[in-house]
Amino acid sequence: MSTFVVLGAQWGDEGKGKMTDFLAESADLVVRFQGGNNAGHTVIVGESEYKLHLIPSGILYDDKLNILGNGTVIDPEALFKEISYLEDLNVAVTPEKLLISDRAHVILPYHRLLDKASDKLRKNAIGTTGKGIGPAYTDKAERSGIRMCDLIKPDVFKRKLEENIKKKNDLLVSVYDEEPLDFDEVYETYSAYAERLIPFVKDTSVRLYDEIKADKKVLFEGAQGMLLDIDYGTYPFVTSSNTIAGGVCTGTGIGPTMLKGAVGVAKAYTTRVGEGPFPTELTDETGRWIQEKGGEVGVTTGRPRRCGWLDLVILKTSARVSGLTNLVVTKIDTLAGLDKIQVCVGYKFNGQVIDYFPASLEDLAACEPVYETFEGWGEEAATAKTYDELPENAKIYLKRIEEFTGVEVSIVSVGPKRDQTIVVNEI
Ligand code: GDP
Ligand code: IMO
Ligand code: MG
Repeated sequence: MSTFVVLGAQWGDEGKGKMTDFLAESADLVVRFQGGNNAGHTVIVGESEYKLHLIPSGILYDDKLNILGNGTVIDPEALFKEISYLEDLNVAVTPEKLLISDRAHVILPYHRLLDKASDKLRKNAIGTTGKGIGPAYTDKAERSGIRMCDLIKPDVFKRKLEENIKKKNDLLVSVYDEEPLDFDEVYETYSAYAERLIPFVKDTSVRLYDEIKADKKVLFEGAQGMLLDIDYGTYPFVTSSNTIAGGVCTGTGIGPTMLKGAVGVAKAYTTRVGEGPFPTELTDETGRWIQEKGGEVGVTTGRPRRCGWLDLVILKTSARVSGLTNLVVTKIDTLAGLDKIQVCVGYKFNGQVIDYFPASLEDLAACEPVYETFEGWGEEAATAKTYDELPENAKIYLKRIEEFTGVEVSIVSVGPKRDQTIVVNEI
């Protein structure tokens, strides 16, 4: 496919980083369209492990153009920290390899402070990453945000920052009982970032359009997952952007007809970091076993991830709202060793069985998962090089996923490394 998006089909951390890296080999551009450094994408190349938060995973290749689209929110401090981290690992980050949309909104120190302070004050905390994501998108919607094109113009930045700091300090002091920020200090620090940012900042929608018209191959890298989508996720326990395929158009400035495919990435089980409902969660020994075997710890926050059985209602909902053309199933190797594996194939709700995710959290709480039981498989799953080499029971499991969602499983991942990837059908 010439243009396609790689999306999380669950609550994030499905292995999007690994799959973006794998699929980027044949792409010319890798583009982030939403979110910010709340993401944590792990890519293992040879013996080296890279943990990326904001910069697209295509940066690990020398010959790809990476773009942070207008739908992303960018913390310059975090960006330069990530650039230093990559440079220390001999990965160059230059304006030839990375462009930033002039329309992307900037995360400032008050966004981070407000994120933490407001989550602390909530009756039911969301458990955000504390990176300032929600408050930055709030300012965007409220029309007081500072964009990249503003940051790099000293006079505009000064005017907008003055107005914002005054308001945010009032809020920080009177509502949250926090210390106020010093305007001069923030202005000086961020003006220095602005100067460094100038060569990276461009109208990326124009560039992207030209590249697609020139038949270049573009991979859009999703962050978070379908159930963290601000519209279709478990609201309010979500992130503040559209993580589903629809976000690609608004987040990069291309039209819907330019996007040819949507690849959903799903783990063979389910995980979630942070608070919020999770119908198939396992709070018992099996959940702990999966957490430990799968190394399920948040890349951005270091929090242990909650674990549970695969939920096909979630995957079917993802397939619908993002128009998935392909599925990638990861971590088949993690489940190896379990005697029996359960899969949720519906929710019992008001005396009926439904196969879609309800909007209301109260309705969701009243849903009872309906399970099918599958026979487990052995550790040979991790060394399979082809679909045929996969254990028979793993194949039965994958077939059921295809059948229920109506989406072909095109890739199976059996380990964290690039070569632990089985392509069933070319994407
Ligand atoms: P992302 O946010 O979707 O990019 O995923 P994360 O990087 O947060 O979490 C996925 C974790 O699983 C990382 O530690 C990956 O290295 C690892 N991983 C990805 N695919 C596989 C797989 O098939 N098997 C195993 N065992 N680990 C995997
Ligand atoms: P990747 O791209 C998993 C979760 C947070 C919290 C909620 C809101 O690695 O899959 P935010 O800081 O975005 O306002 O937090 O969303 N969250 C993620 N969970 N993977 C992610 O990214 C996440 N990004 C945010 O834990 O529950
Ligand atoms: Mg992650």
